[in-house]
Amino acid sequence: MEVIPCPDRDRAVALTARIIETRLRAKPDLVLGLATGRTMEEVYARLVASGVSFARCTTFNLDEYVGLPPDDPNSYASYMRHHLFDHVDIDPARTHLPDGMASDLTAAAADYEARITAAGGIDLQLLGIGEAGHIGFNEPLSALRSRTRDKILTPTTRRQNAGMFGGNEEAVPKRALTMGVGTILDTRELVLLASGAAKAGIVARAVEGPLTARVSASAIQLHTSCKVVLDAEAAAGLEDIDYYRFVCRNEEKWDNCRDLL
Ligand code: GLP
Repeated sequence: MEVIPCPDRDRAVALTARIIETRLRAKPDLVLGLATGRTMEEVYARLVASGVSFARCTTFNLDEYVGLPPDDPNSYASYMRHHLFDHVDIDPARTHLPDGMASDLTAAAADYEARITAAGGIDLQLLGIGEAGHIGFNEPLSALRSRTRDKILTPTTRRQNAGMFGGNEEAVPKRALTMGVGTILDTRELVLLASGAAKAGIVARAVEGPLTARVSASAIQLHTSCKVVLDAEAAAGLEDIDYYRFVCRNEEKWDNCRDLL
């Protein structure tokens, strides 16, 4: 794992967008795993502004609420159209989200896994982190080998996401279809982005704490190509922050990103 501490949110977002843009330019038919949440909105805005082509790119989102149709303004399908898909040259047929409206969620989950496999697997997976330690919607005690399935959302998650539902926690769906922790670990590269003081505690547990199903995000410790991009506030709880800064300063591969570090 590489922890990449940035001075502020803007630069953490810019660095994340730059990594994605670089991968897309190097491999236009990239299979890109996408995430939602407030943290990602500015990443998508920067990708749109970069003008990079998504024409040959295939995308798979981490998760979708159960019971929200794709045209519901709070669905992640709407979120993706609003923040990215409607503003780039991506082929809508190549964009995939789990089908939260399926009458058989188990079958829909298996179909999602099959679609990822048929696409050749995910090259780069973007991740946020929830205050309950989730990646995707893998709430505490999600098996570290879990695959796409439906999960009950914790009260912490429903509270955290209530802002998008007019502040009404009860309006947040109770379930979601999400890639499993195992599905996420099968991707070829992970980039987790976190910003803000509210994430400092859970980031420290995910990065430096024990590997545990209580904090699904701690599973990133098992991945062989994982970057954790943080602003100063989200990095504030890390004990070995000086070491992570030392590594970044000395890694030549970050030389073309010094403006952001
Ligand atoms: C939702 C998504 C997660 C994401 C989280 C972060 O819960 N399902 O994948 O990590 O939001 O949200 P935010 O960026 O708004 O803090």
